[in-house]
Amino acid sequence: MGKILVAYATNTGTTADVARKIGEELEKSGDQVDVVALTQIDSIDTYEAVIIGAPMIMGWHREAVGFLKKHQQTLSQVPVALFMMAMSLTRTGETSLDGIPITIDEKLPQSPKVEGRLSFKEHYATVRNYLRPVLKTAPSVKPISVGFFGGRLDIYRLKWWQALFVMAIIQTQPGEKRNWEAICAWAGCLSSTLHDNWTG
Ligand SMILES: Cc1cc2nc3c(=O)[nH]c(=O)nc-3n(C[C@H](O)[C@H](O)[C@H](O)COP(=O)(O)O)c2cc1C
Repeated sequence: MGKILVAYATNTGTTADVARKIGEELEKSGDQVDVVALTQIDSIDTYEAVIIGAPMIMGWHREAVGFLKKHQQTLSQVPVALFMMAMSLTRTGETSLDGIPITIDEKLPQSPKVEGRLSFKEHYATVRNYLRPVLKTAPSVKPISVGFFGGRLDIYRLKWWQALFVMAIIQTQPGEKRNWEAICAWAGCLSSTLHDNWTG
């Protein structure tokens, strides 16, 4: 049994719900889990594992990237997992990046229009393009798992420039894409992996 932190950033609340759900799943294994907004966290020294979740908002949410950078020393010494909420992901068949296992909600990705030749928008929305800059931020942190899940887009909750970006670059329809089954399955696997590591 361990003490786990599920830390999240959010723009309109979607990721907070998902972080809470992941926390509930992890608690089923008897672990103590704290689910906390990144802005409320000072120290992470007391945790044996840390899960960080945030939406893609013109790159992974900047609070999450900043957190990774700030705490990279501590995060390089405990198991870390990341999850990313997105409305658009291009199917590329990748299941790992730099040796890090990637789990993708199967309902999220869309196949490129022309196989092997990605458009600008399709290239933008690849796992590689989303994740690489995040990993570069804290090179000493090697996540044990990264999950990509469908999010929720409510255009009426956005600032005008956010709505403009989403319409011009992401070109995605507003709506609910959260797949709770995929999210719980990932959290369940994560729990097993953590327990395997803890029991040696
Ligand atoms: C300004 C803005 C930029 C976004 N950029 C992306 C993006 O690059 N890729 C993507 O798949 N989704 C993008 N999204 C969609 C969000 O990731 C998605 O709506 C997410 O579920 C929001 O989570 P939240 O409610 O926790 O903020 C963007 C949304 C906004 C408002």
